[in-house]
Amino acid sequence: MATLQEIQELDQANVMQTYGRLPICFVRGEGTRLWDTEGREYLDFLAGIAVCNLGHCHPRVTAAIREQAGTLVHTSNLYYNQTQARLGALLGELSGGYRSFFGNSGAEANEGAIKLGRKWAKQHRGPECDELITVLGSFHGRTLATLTATGQEKVKHGFAPLPVGFRHAPFNDLAALEAAITDKTFGVMFELVQGESGVHPADPEYVQGVRALCDRHQLLLILDEVQCGLGRTGAWFAWQRYGVQPDIFTLAKPIASGLPMGVVLARPEVAAAFQLGDHGSTFGGTHLVCAAALATLETMRDERLPERAEEMGRYFRDRLLALREKHPQIAEVRGLGLMIGVELSVPEAKSIMHRCLENGLVFNAVGDKILRFLPPLIVTRAEVDQAVAILDAALGDA
Ligand SMILES: Cc1ncc(COP(=O)(O)O)c(C=O)c1O
Repeated sequence: MATLQEIQELDQANVMQTYGRLPICFVRGEGTRLWDTEGREYLDFLAGIAVCNLGHCHPRVTAAIREQAGTLVHTSNLYYNQTQARLGALLGELSGGYRSFFGNSGAEANEGAIKLGRKWAKQHRGPECDELITVLGSFHGRTLATLTATGQEKVKHGFAPLPVGFRHAPFNDLAALEAAITDKTFGVMFELVQGESGVHPADPEYVQGVRALCDRHQLLLILDEVQCGLGRTGAWFAWQRYGVQPDIFTLAKPIASGLPMGVVLARPEVAAAFQLGDHGSTFGGTHLVCAAALATLETMRDERLPERAEEMGRYFRDRLLALREKHPQIAEVRGLGLMIGVELSVPEAKSIMHRCLENGLVFNAVGDKILRFLPPLIVTRAEVDQAVAILDAALGDA
């Protein structure tokens, strides 16, 4: 096997350097554990950034991928695909009747949602109605439309001219959102728990208020559940926790346990705005990825992982709150289910993350002050205890 240094040299000489990579190369995973090139073992509390809900290499998903890879990997969306049809039916069952379009990533799902929203608006509201309101602190992806939708300036620098048709309002501020609505507005898009900006849950009154505003002004409510969806917050979809129904929502990260898939889901009346030829993708919903997604969702259902995320999330947050008594540099513990952010009062997030990594715990630092934990939903109490002990030691050293 190549050494870490050889891999680093190969990467730096040949791959575009868009990621600030940490000096680690994982080569194997099983459940909540990862191993690097040096044979060191880690407890993974990042799960590929909310991707590996079932941990690494879950036997049911591995078996489904192997079986499908030996049967049929890809045909084309010109033909019917039984795995895609079954996956659409399962998502329809879990969501209460939403229709699916299958693409390949979160950004692509959000692009599809924006396209569908614009098409619906042209048909139902008029040709001038082409503006989408998104919120500050959001993250919706790296394509031109989704980085424009994203409410963070840092992702936009250097990429002008940006697409038109987007406007931002502050997050969790209903009055400001209402003030931003114009005759051109066709919808509002946001995350129920902002992930990339450091785990910021929406206020329930805000979410219900936005739904009411959308109803009053005939706007589409579009929810980006790429990171917070599929069990992570303790429900299949975060909107179920907030007691609202979106018109369109998007899924991606964990749906196929690490194989690329993004999904646009819409109420049937809204989905009908997409007509023949309006949207498409060569790889979207291909047999192999759909087989992995079916195995992932069926396993999540059989093992009741959304409920488990709620239970283990509560346990983990309680343990972190107890740690706050001992370490006053913990300013806040927040989140829903197993989507958890720890905000520090001092800019030590990166050094604490590095110290934990050295002691075998993987998570990430958002900016200078926020620690973000997104463990696999199969995590046990003993593993939470182990993670808290490593964090405790790192905070003590800081
Ligand atoms: C909420 C949200 N939307 C969209 C995206 C983009 O997803 P992808 O990287 O699969 O394009 C992300 C990725 O972090 C995300 O967290």
